[in-house]
Amino acid sequence: TNPELQNVLEAHNWLTKLYHHLLRHTKEGKDGYELLLKRGVTEEIIDTFQLGFAPNSNDFTKKFLENKGFHPQSMVKGGLLSYSENGLYHDRFRGRVIFPIRNHQGKTVAFAGRSINGKDPKYLNSPETDLFQKGKLLYNFDLARSEIRKLGEVVLFEGQMDVIAAYQAGIKHGIATLGTAITDNQAKLIRRYVERVIICYDSDDAGIEASFKASQLLKKSGCEVRVASMKDGLDPDDYIRTYSGEAFRKEVLDASATYMGFIMQYFKRGYNLNNEGDQLAYIEKVLDEISKMDKPLEREFYIKELATEHDLSYESLEKEIIDRRKKQG
Ligand code: UTP
Ligand code: MN
Ligand code: MN
Ligand code: MN
Ligand code: MN
Repeated sequence: TNPELQNVLEAHNWLTKLYHHLLRHTKEGKDGYELLLKRGVTEEIIDTFQLGFAPNSNDFTKKFLENKGFHPQSMVKGGLLSYSENGLYHDRFRGRVIFPIRNHQGKTVAFAGRSINGKDPKYLNSPETDLFQKGKLLYNFDLARSEIRKLGEVVLFEGQMDVIAAYQAGIKHGIATLGTAITDNQAKLIRRYVERVIICYDSDDAGIEASFKASQLLKKSGCEVRVASMKDGLDPDDYIRTYSGEAFRKEVLDASATYMGFIMQYFKRGYNLNNEGDQLAYIEKVLDEISKMDKPLEREFYIKELATEHDLSYESLEKEIIDRRKKQG
C-alpha cells in the first residue's frame, strides 16, 4: 500500500499504545483514568478498547512522534498534530481521554478525545483524512462483526461510550456512527451483514429526530428496523449505569418498537390529535406509510390499529390504501 498512508497508520499505532500506557500506568494519565472509573468502565474494557489519555501539553505528542522519526508535516495531514499561524506544530489532543477509532480491520485510523473538565468541544475528533472517512466507518465493527453475524442483529448507537457500556454489559453487537447522521454508505454496509437493526440513539429530542432519519434510510436499504427508547431522555450509557445491563436488555432492546410502532409515535409528536385538522393530517401520513408495506398481513394489522384508534371503518381506510398503492404502481 501507499507508503504515506502506511506511515500515518504506524503513527496511530504508536500513539494508541502510548496514550493507553499513560492512562493505565502513569501519574499523567490519572485524571483520565479516574473519569473512566467514575463512569464504571472496568480495566478489562479499558484494555479491550485501548482507551488512553493525551496529556495536557502542547508538544508531548509532537516530541514523541519526532523521536520516532515521523515528520510533523505528514502528522498534520494525518490529523495527529496541528499547525498554528505562527509556524509551529503542536499536539492536537491535549488533556483528553482518548478513544482510538479502529477501522473494520481493527487498525486505529483516528482518535476521539473527550474533555475531562467540561471544555468544549466535549469530543474532539480527528479530521477526515485519507485513512479516516467518517461516513464510511462504523465504530466497533471489527469487534462486533462475529456477534452481529451470530445474532443476525446489530444495535446502532450514537456514541462510543454507549457502545462500550453495552459491550461491558455483554451486549457485544453494538456499533456507532460517530456523532454524525448515518450515511447511505453505512446503511448499505450494515445491510450486507445483517437484516435486523435496532436503532438505539439517545432518547432526547436530537436523538429522536436522528432515529427517524436513520429509520428512513435503513428501511430504504432493506433492513428490518426497530427503534429502542429510554425513559427520562437518557442515553444507553446512562441507562445501563443507572438501571443495569440486564434492565437495558429487557426493557430497552427487547422492548424496542417495530418500525411502524415507532413511526406512529413519531408522527404523533408533531400533531395535536385533539385538533381535527391535525388528526386528519396524521392519519394521511400513517396511511402513506402503511401503503408502502409489502406484506398484506402487516397492512391489515396497522389498518385495524388506525381504524380503532380514530374510530373509523376498516373499509374506508383500506380503500385509501388501495388507491395509494395503485398510484405507486
Ligand atoms: P452525546 O452528546 O450524546 O455524548 O454525543 P454524551 O452522551 O453527552 O457524552 P458522554 O457520555 O458524556 O461522554 C454522542 C456522540 O456524538 C459525538 C461523539 O461521537 C459522541 O459519542 N460528538 C458529541 C462529537 O463528535 N462531538 C461533540 O462535541 C459531541
Ligand atoms: Mn451531550
Ligand atoms: Mn446525544
Ligand atoms: Mn449521549
Ligand atoms: Mn452519554
